[in-house]
Amino acid sequence: MNEFFRKLLFLPEQASTFAAGVDHLHYFVALTTFIMALAVGVLAVVFIALYKRKSETQTTPHVEPTMMIEAAFVSVPLVLFLLWFAVGFRQFVEQDTPPADAMDVYVMAKKWMWKFNYPDGPNSVNVLRVPAGRPVRLLMTSQDVIHSFFVPEFRVKKDVNPGRYTQTWFNATTPGKYEILCSQYCGAGHSIMRGEVIVMPPAEYQTWLDNLKRSPLPQDGLNTDIEKVSVNSSLAEQGRRVAAEQGCFKCHTIDGTKFTGPTWLNMFGRTEKLITGEKIVVDEAYMTESIMDPLAKIVEGYAPVMPSFQNKLAGPEIAALVEYMKSLRTDTARTTPPEGPLYAPVH
Ligand code: CUA
Repeated sequence: MNEFFRKLLFLPEQASTFAAGVDHLHYFVALTTFIMALAVGVLAVVFIALYKRKSETQTTPHVEPTMMIEAAFVSVPLVLFLLWFAVGFRQFVEQDTPPADAMDVYVMAKKWMWKFNYPDGPNSVNVLRVPAGRPVRLLMTSQDVIHSFFVPEFRVKKDVNPGRYTQTWFNATTPGKYEILCSQYCGAGHSIMRGEVIVMPPAEYQTWLDNLKRSPLPQDGLNTDIEKVSVNSSLAEQGRRVAAEQGCFKCHTIDGTKFTGPTWLNMFGRTEKLITGEKIVVDEAYMTESIMDPLAKIVEGYAPVMPSFQNKLAGPEIAALVEYMKSLRTDTARTTPPEGPLYAPVH
């Protein structure tokens, strides 16, 4: 029955735990409205034939419907609408409430690509790998305009907005490849803003992840040409790359030397005196503020020359940067300048 209706309505495969429920509601709504519309249409045709005016002088008698009929007209559609609402609302709440044990993936959308970032794993562009049978929560933000993350086979669709996070989740049931589409018009490249979710059997996924962590070399047959994977051992390591990319090291040292800007070594938890005479303790909030709005609190002895990185860095990148700065402590500090390629692309 399910398959019959699915094919009848040209719906894609059902590849997540949500899919069947969403489709069942869809069949129910389509079927009831279809039956109602059919009944109205057929009755109209029958009545046209049955009550055709027979003479020029014939008039239509005034019909006063009974209370029962009036009540039925109001209550039957009302009950149906409320039923759809009740079922749909339950599904909406479920889709909006990721389970606590879900695996997190950060999603950054920008014209016109999807970037995926696992907190303790690889980054990838346009390709998201997930294990089957495990809830995956997506924390999504956009670098430019509104996009929308849509995987038809999962029946998952959620807007991705600049300047804020939205979240959604899914539990993929069937290993395979599924297309990710952007479903908000976001400019000339909207139609090419496509990605791919690769759902792997859990064991295979684990092997892939382990291999990736062990070496940044390509894994045979596992990387498609649109996938660029860079390996990061930790969020702090990602932060180091962000800092190198954004040119932070032109002004900030990580070995304690005073330069254009304060050194990042042992910065976290340090008490700084501001040009206003106020004293502050450097915490995550101050670090984030200083990246976004550098002139808000200038440390004494430094010129107010740092540009703002508002709109230049996405949420996950700022988080990574802050983690990196926090990791720079005398006991564990890297005293050599950052080196190596900014990315370790794999083809
Ligand atoms: Cu991004 Cu449409």
